[in-house]
Amino acid sequence: MHKKYPAIFLDRDGTIIEDVGTISDPKQIELYPDTVESLKRLMDKFKLFVLTNQAGVSKGEVSLEDVENVNKYLSDVLLKEGVKIEQFYTCPHSVEDQCHCIKPKPFMMEKAAEEYNLVLGSSFMIGDHPHDVKTGSEHGVMGLYVLTGHGQKHLKDLSSWKMVFHRLTDAVNWIDEHPDHEEYFKRELPKAAEIIKEGGVVAFPTETVYGLGADVFNPEAVKKIFEIKGRPTNNPLIAHISNMDKLSLLTDNVPPKAKRLMENFWPGPLTVVLEKKDTVPDIVTAGNPTVAVRMPSSSIALELIELTGTAVAAPSANSFTCTSPTTAQHVIEQLGDKCDKVIDGGACRVGVESTVITFSGKVPMILRHGGLSREDIEEIIGPVEVIEGAKDVNKESPGQMLNHYAPKTSLEIVSSIPDFLKTDEKVGIILPEPTGESFNGPVEILSRNGDLKEMAVNLYAAIRRLDSFGLKLMVTLPFPDEGIGRALNDRLKKAANGQQNKT
Ligand code: TXA
Ligand code: MG
Repeated sequence: MHKKYPAIFLDRDGTIIEDVGTISDPKQIELYPDTVESLKRLMDKFKLFVLTNQAGVSKGEVSLEDVENVNKYLSDVLLKEGVKIEQFYTCPHSVEDQCHCIKPKPFMMEKAAEEYNLVLGSSFMIGDHPHDVKTGSEHGVMGLYVLTGHGQKHLKDLSSWKMVFHRLTDAVNWIDEHPDHEEYFKRELPKAAEIIKEGGVVAFPTETVYGLGADVFNPEAVKKIFEIKGRPTNNPLIAHISNMDKLSLLTDNVPPKAKRLMENFWPGPLTVVLEKKDTVPDIVTAGNPTVAVRMPSSSIALELIELTGTAVAAPSANSFTCTSPTTAQHVIEQLGDKCDKVIDGGACRVGVESTVITFSGKVPMILRHGGLSREDIEEIIGPVEVIEGAKDVNKESPGQMLNHYAPKTSLEIVSSIPDFLKTDEKVGIILPEPTGESFNGPVEILSRNGDLKEMAVNLYAAIRRLDSFGLKLMVTLPFPDEGIGRALNDRLKKAANGQQNKT
């Protein structure tokens, strides 16, 4: 028997090169900055292939010959850098052609498996379209989704079980660290649930940010959360549930408007503050007569909570006042050895905390802007009030404290970036969208096409990356003040304030 190899199948446009529409000329190729390094790391263990749908051929926008030239050129460029792509497989059809080879049909993978003696069950497919990650799943090929290219645009069509990553390099890290593939979750989630049941603390992914979870009904376990985070106990936690039946563990009173919000937005980035049951320990609610409840939409989170058989109290899995984590690496860097386990489920799809709304007053009041917009809420239940952050600190929602979400490096919000900062290489720049300016220091562009949701997904990771460079200052432009942009502006202000408070 010949040795069998596992493979990495890569989508082309939006995954290893910028998606610039139909490419007919090699000059249009723009490799992502992390492509070469990422692929090099895979080469010891895997054979690499590119699988690409090029509907432009069928539509007459480009000839198959041109596509093959582009592929050949790309292959040569990568080879020069030390990355060998064994083969490019191209489907030249469009969906209407109903061909046998278009993704998510696994034909091209099956062909590669035959030609190169591959073991598909230990292989991965990486791409920026839901069809990419679906390709080969019936053969046990694990699909990993990247948020580059059109990843953000198609995210709503991606199954909630699939893992997403900010960049190719993050997907490659996951493959590196979890060679055991899908078994990872089958094995680790029951273990993690057992830890929580026994009074331990587990960091786990949700769609908003990573949470640090313990059993709501175990005060000793909940106390550990506060200790690990260094968080004062006057700041209450959110109780996370995995199904509607568990709501009755926490409250007996759900106002009709709260119910309508839950029906519309759960599971999802919405936290509802309700009258608490006596059985909910005071440490969870910081002595408040109310409890904050949320049902997250991440399948990994839901499965974990379900396996615990209880409700899981979880704040964001970062040290008190620091930037919230949107990847497992963020958690490990800050709290890794302090929690009993960290579940690595890739990047968070929303990227900013849940919206917190209370029903304790006459009119529902948003206590914290978050992943669900005020507009979406008002469409369902009519006008709501919004807490004025600074005034009510520590009373209605302690999370309104002004020094939350702070990086080590000072952060300033400016309406336009002055020239003397543009030329300073020790100044890091965060741009919600491209401005066409050039800078001497490191730049993070959160969305190439001005998509607010994409900005949210990338914001915390961008702050953390710049914060790791030892810069003297980070500068950012504000976000449009609408939808999820309100939450982003709120976090920026608090991040900027946090630094001022410390000095
Ligand atoms: O997206 C999220 O909400 C994440 C993930 C892990 O689910 N969790 C999170 O938790 O952000 P944390 O602890 O960082 O923020 C909880 C927020 C705080 O602003 C807190 O003051 C507020 O919810 N909160 C909790 N219980 C409350 C209560 N009984 N009354 C008013 N506000 C409450
Ligand atoms: Mg693509």
